[in-house]
Amino acid sequence: MTIREILNEATHSFEAVGIPSARLDAEVLLAFCLKLDRLEFLKNPETKISKTQLADFKKIVARRLKWEPVAYITGRKEFWSFTLEVNQGVLIPRPDTEVIVEEALNICRTQNLSKPRILDIGTGSGAIALALARELPDAKVVATDISPAALIVSQKNALNLGLAKQVEFIQGDLFEPVNGIFDIIVSNPPYIADREYQELPPGVKDYEPKEALWAGQTGVEFYEKLIYQSKNHLNENGWLLLEIGARQEENVRKIMEDCGNYNSIDVRNDYAGLPRVIKGRKKVSG
Ligand SMILES: C[S@@+](CC[C@H](N)C(=O)[O-])C[C@H]1O[C@@H](n2cnc3c(N)ncnc32)[C@H](O)[C@@H]1O
Repeated sequence: MTIREILNEATHSFEAVGIPSARLDAEVLLAFCLKLDRLEFLKNPETKISKTQLADFKKIVARRLKWEPVAYITGRKEFWSFTLEVNQGVLIPRPDTEVIVEEALNICRTQNLSKPRILDIGTGSGAIALALARELPDAKVVATDISPAALIVSQKNALNLGLAKQVEFIQGDLFEPVNGIFDIIVSNPPYIADREYQELPPGVKDYEPKEALWAGQTGVEFYEKLIYQSKNHLNENGWLLLEIGARQEENVRKIMEDCGNYNSIDVRNDYAGLPRVIKGRKKVSG
């Protein structure tokens, strides 16, 4: 079979089960299987592939037909300006999460924080912590996760990106393992409520770690803890930035306002126009 025929066949089988990005997935997975650059092999669609390659690709297609995410099959996901290794121990980083990186960088620029101390709670693959470390070479970044499996992945990513010296990884529940005071705390915590969790698409619910997604009955459980506990780990005028779900703006804003320790509370939308990051600055006491 030629590359063109194989791609058409895989695309049709993905479409038949309702996979939305059927053609792109087929191309990415075939490139992965053949260990070739996707754009390169698309230039030669009449090339024939071997029986062994075809057998390998059919196994990969079978995994995708069961809704396994492409990133878990290839073990890679692009984020910010780099590629992260991922496996089922970590959430696949989403493009929307780049908004929290942009906001943290804006704060560093506008507040003239040249050597910020930054804490990332629930680092997963290391996406946010590593993007900030890469953009801010003089920053000191601490990244935590409750999941030892996630920390293996994030530490590997730090090594791959040459950022291992700049980012310290620690395991534990929220602030329990954290020492010190920070200029910026960032977090993309679990924020899916009980009822929503049951309704997640199969590619998410059946493959991504529940502890990365599910927050509890209401979905705001982690925000309450992060907002109330962050004030003990922020410098005066330090900033807390949290990724939020599209329908959580009102509830999380209220938690931040009721806490009473933050001013300049504001929400930034993502590129789809949905509320995505809430930020607040710790009030100066006294
Ligand atoms: C939504 S994922 C975000 C991962 C990554 N920061 C990103 O944006 O792609 C939430 C992360 O929080 C971690 N987590 C869950 N409960 C935690 C806790 N109590 N303390 C620290 N981390 C926790 C999960 O293991 C997961 O890696």
